[in-house]
Amino acid sequence: MAKKSKSEERMERMQHHILVCRGPSCSQASSEEVLIAMRKHVKNENLDETVRITVTDCMLRCSQSPTVVVYPDGVWYQKMTPESAEKIIKEHLLREEIVVEKAQYCLVDGKFVPCKVRKGISK
Ligand code: FES
Repeated sequence: MAKKSKSEERMERMQHHILVCRGPSCSQASSEEVLIAMRKHVKNENLDETVRITVTDCMLRCSQSPTVVVYPDGVWYQKMTPESAEKIIKEHLLREEIVVEKAQYCLVDGKFVPCKVRKGISK
């Protein structure tokens, strides 16, 4: 059997992929601070091996910036702050509870729908 590369092993360990928008509107709304907070709390919670954070360009939700999306759950978070970044790491990633006050859209049955009532994450 072929030996797995480090990249393949990392992919197998990954449980969440967080997209942080750094497009013009989100940058103006301090998404850099959100990104720094995300990275800090991922490290503090020892999630480096299971969480990947990727910076993106505009995700077309500028009026709700800064925007963050968490996969595989497909939850779009709006008007992010460093404090809500910490909540996402501690509540969404660790306890599998959507941060309801910041959640805008959730992926349900293959479609993104307004996400006002769901708290837990169905798998
Ligand atoms: S710049 Fe972030 S959603 Fe448009």
